[in-house]
Amino acid sequence: METVNQLLSSIQDVGRDAVRGGYSRAVYTTPELDLRQWFVEQAQHRGLDVETDRNGIMWAWWGKPQEGALVTGSHLDSVPGGGAFDGPLGVASALAAVDILKARGFQPPRSLAVTVFPEEEGSRFGVACLGSRLLTGAIDTDKALNLRDINGDTFADVAGANGLDPRHIGPDPVAMARIGDFVELHVEQGRGLGQDGPAVAVGSSILGHGRWKISVSGQGNHAGTTLMADRADPMVAAAQIVLAVRETAARQPDARATVGRLTPVPGGTNVIASRVDLWLDARHPDDAVTAQLIEGIYRAAQDVAAAEGCTVTLTEESYSDTVHFDAGLSRRITGLLPGAPVLATGAGHDAGVLAGYVPSAMVFVRNPSGISHSPEEYVADEDASAGALALADVLEGLL
Ligand code: GLV
Ligand code: MN
Ligand code: MN
Repeated sequence: METVNQLLSSIQDVGRDAVRGGYSRAVYTTPELDLRQWFVEQAQHRGLDVETDRNGIMWAWWGKPQEGALVTGSHLDSVPGGGAFDGPLGVASALAAVDILKARGFQPPRSLAVTVFPEEEGSRFGVACLGSRLLTGAIDTDKALNLRDINGDTFADVAGANGLDPRHIGPDPVAMARIGDFVELHVEQGRGLGQDGPAVAVGSSILGHGRWKISVSGQGNHAGTTLMADRADPMVAAAQIVLAVRETAARQPDARATVGRLTPVPGGTNVIASRVDLWLDARHPDDAVTAQLIEGIYRAAQDVAAAEGCTVTLTEESYSDTVHFDAGLSRRITGLLPGAPVLATGAGHDAGVLAGYVPSAMVFVRNPSGISHSPEEYVADEDASAGALALADVLEGLL
């Protein structure tokens, strides 16, 4: 029987990023594939039957695959330069919870599946929770198949090269019917769990969030021969757009807006860019306010682009409404975890996508600094163990 910490230690060298720090485990790259293989071995070692469905979601079954099963799990892919816990903590805790239940001599009266969802972060193809969106039909299949990574490879091609049949990718009612209830354990990504209180919390809601691509086009030119007065430099407009994003969001209580990625084209030190692409992540509890926020940012972007002699486009890449987890399931979980506080989160999760279709809930484990999507993300060993124990209690109580 392995603890969560032992399980996480066994993958601590997979996908380390020597340049960014932390881990870069993008979906269907070698590190993520190695982690998927690790998951198969760990599941088989526990006597679980592993299958990969037509969307690349892995299911490890304790008991026969059946309708209405209890399903728990998370993801193994990461953001670029991410931490060790966002995703793997939920998978490792699910495996450890199975060990705990087996050690208790527990016989599940209905089947339990541990799942791994691909491309939860959207780090490679741009749309977060791609696996659960495909499974549920929350994303148009053709749109998903045509998503491209930075090399220009489509999701269809990459999925095909990794054993999936692109013709069968998309909504999967048979797999969906197998999810009676879904519970995802996840590292907390704020400071909602104080240092001295309980180590676990129950999730209440996920902030509505989306991603937009902003492209600013200007005149590519020579850095040495183009007079300052003669430029239409999209990088200068992009810099002002980044500031406008912050200022627009700062005026809106509870809003968060981030430009975390920006690509100059062609991208040379002595080249005035011809285009700059920026990706905007914006979040707010009220979807109507998010829409206003995006409109405000777009207007500001048009103004600064025009002043610089540039043009700008804004395209929505994905959007997820605010999610409130199933009240009945969350109440049952709160009853199984006495003293656990109830916390909202600003982070997206597969549980949030699934919540639109099946009763779903989340359990969060303390992250003392609240830092996440960063190498400094941290969960203490004793808190990880408390999380696995809490998950085991929840699974036993729900089964
Ligand atoms: C995923 O972690 C997200 O909130 O973007
Ligand atoms: Mn994440
Ligand atoms: Mn995550």
